[in-house]
Amino acid sequence: MNLLSAKKLSHSFDYELFSDISIELEERESIAIIGISGSGKSTLLHILSTLLKPQSGEVSIFGEDVSRMSKKKLSQIKRDKLGLVFQSHYLFKGFSSLENLEIAAILSKQNIDKDLLKRLKIDQVINQKVTELSGGQQQRVSIARVLTKKPKILFVDEPTGNLDKLTANEVMEIFFEYIKEHRAGMVLVTHDEELAYKCSKVYKLIDKELVKVN
Ligand SMILES: Nc1ncnc2c1ncn2[C@@H]1O[C@H](COP(=O)(O)OP(=O)(O)O)[C@@H](O)[C@H]1O
Ligand SMILES: [Mg+2]
Repeated sequence: MNLLSAKKLSHSFDYELFSDISIELEERESIAIIGISGSGKSTLLHILSTLLKPQSGEVSIFGEDVSRMSKKKLSQIKRDKLGLVFQSHYLFKGFSSLENLEIAAILSKQNIDKDLLKRLKIDQVINQKVTELSGGQQQRVSIARVLTKKPKILFVDEPTGNLDKLTANEVMEIFFEYIKEHRAGMVLVTHDEELAYKCSKVYKLIDKELVKVN
């Protein structure tokens, strides 16, 4: 099944970031987008994940044009089917990690996966306040929270920035297994080429174009 299809996307802020970009994501597929800092990777991910409207072009999710969806439908899809793993964690700061996961579990009517917490090495700190955790631990709590809602598409922006190499690799393995197991897909944005080449397809955002490099 086609999860995501973007056609002829263009976007400018003070200057044109990219134009005429098209990309498709299928079930069980992972796509990496690499490019130098400032090339527009995060902006493209914001557009693909429906957070930002493209200035031209269209994004379809599960075969439906996002710009034609009702507000209600789009917010349901965002809540239940799209998993955003961005650099700012958006955890609820006054709460414990467990409470953060419980909120996600309740909203999406899913269960918290204890094994996942172990693999992310946060099972021991789950009762601590988010603000007491290190940056890397907070990042893994936010990954656990996203996966708890069992999204169909993962949008991941520089996921391993706060993590040591070993933990970063483990986190990526968790993403790859997740998309295989749940017939989901992933769009990963990173400047780390080694990480990118673990994905099924690799694109580079360069000179305002998206070029397939693997
Ligand atoms: N909200 C915004 N308002 C104005 N300009 C922006 C905004 N977001 C990004 N930009 C511009 O777009 C450029 C690319 O940003 P970004 O998509 O974050 O690149 P990357 O993720 O590849 O580093 C930035 O250098 C900045 O000039
Ligand atoms: Mg970025």
